[in-house]
Amino acid sequence: MSQNNTFKAGILGTGSFLPENKLTNKDLEKMVDTSDEWIVSRTGIKERRIAPPSMTTSYMATEAAKKAIEDAKITAEDIDLIIVATVVPDMNFPSTACLVQANIGAIKAAAFDIEVGCSGFIYGLSIAKQFIENGTYKNVLVIAADVLSKITNWEDRNTCVLFGDGAGAAIVGQVEDGYGILDNFIGADGKGGMHLYMPAGGSRMPACEESVKNKLHTIHMNGQEVFKFAVNVMNTATIEVLNRCGLKPEDVDIFIPHQANIRIIDAAIKKLKLSKEKVFINLDKYGNMSAASVAVALDEALKAGKIKNGDIILMVAFGAGLTWGSTVIKWFK
Ligand code: ACO
Repeated sequence: MSQNNTFKAGILGTGSFLPENKLTNKDLEKMVDTSDEWIVSRTGIKERRIAPPSMTTSYMATEAAKKAIEDAKITAEDIDLIIVATVVPDMNFPSTACLVQANIGAIKAAAFDIEVGCSGFIYGLSIAKQFIENGTYKNVLVIAADVLSKITNWEDRNTCVLFGDGAGAAIVGQVEDGYGILDNFIGADGKGGMHLYMPAGGSRMPACEESVKNKLHTIHMNGQEVFKFAVNVMNTATIEVLNRCGLKPEDVDIFIPHQANIRIIDAAIKKLKLSKEKVFINLDKYGNMSAASVAVALDEALKAGKIKNGDIILMVAFGAGLTWGSTVIKWFK
């Protein structure tokens, strides 16, 4: 719950980065046994961005970060902490956050990664809020960046049609009392972890000839189980965070859900009785960009002028772990 002191945490600036190369459903028809009709009707996705082979998570994170820093009208040296949410770090170590710190010259910043799947941006915001509101830090850079194309099995039609690459960033700092991140709700259900995982590459199964041959360095997903979990948790996590803020669904001005599947979003807004006009959607253009989805959507909604001073923003995500996170922000700019 929010602490009762004079520091309130809010978002001071945002940025995003998307690779230029588009992969359409028609392109995928040539790669696996699928169709544009199946993908659009089952997911809502029409195309996604794919990073070129040489492009890393830290590169995309850095580009998004530079834009957020400019938008917040601060310098890299003003940043006290960098948090990068990713499931595709450049390397197991050093952290991608440390690579970004060096890239942007944030010489005073501490840096670490969090691995929370698609809920990463909201987990990152909730960590940043603590550091701002207890007075430890003034500016925290939260980045959500994933190059899922690098861990996608391009022969598996169950997963390869769903994902895309991208990065989003936000500077979290002090805002006027009554504004900013009103509250968060983050959680996890580790028992469901094996519904969405990458089997090899860690201590459980280090890389070997067998792991490469069997494509175990790629996303493995039980789509139906993740779907059921997502529909349920989108509802419970949004209701919980609204309750914590003393708000009702009708108080929400803009709803930015994780962009995994239009059917999951439709089920959530039906239960919340939210009108479609209040929902920000970009999954048709980008697919599921993991942690970056909500971060990029927030940046795009802001840049499109869809959010004004005092608006109530509701964001919710779910992902590998299994994890979930929801947050309510009263916009201050
Ligand atoms: N093209 C054509 N047919 C396909 C494709 C495809 N790309 N993928 C699956 N199918 C087939 C299946 O093989 C199956 O065929 P069968 O009936 O002959 O066995 C049929 O379509 C139906 O499959 P379902 O799995 O029942 O399809 P469903 O309607 O459940 O949609 C989907 C599948 C889109 C994966 C859905 O389950 C989903 O969105 N799940 C959630 C996934 C998700 O959000 N994951 C991300 C989590 S966040 C993170 O951390 C990355």
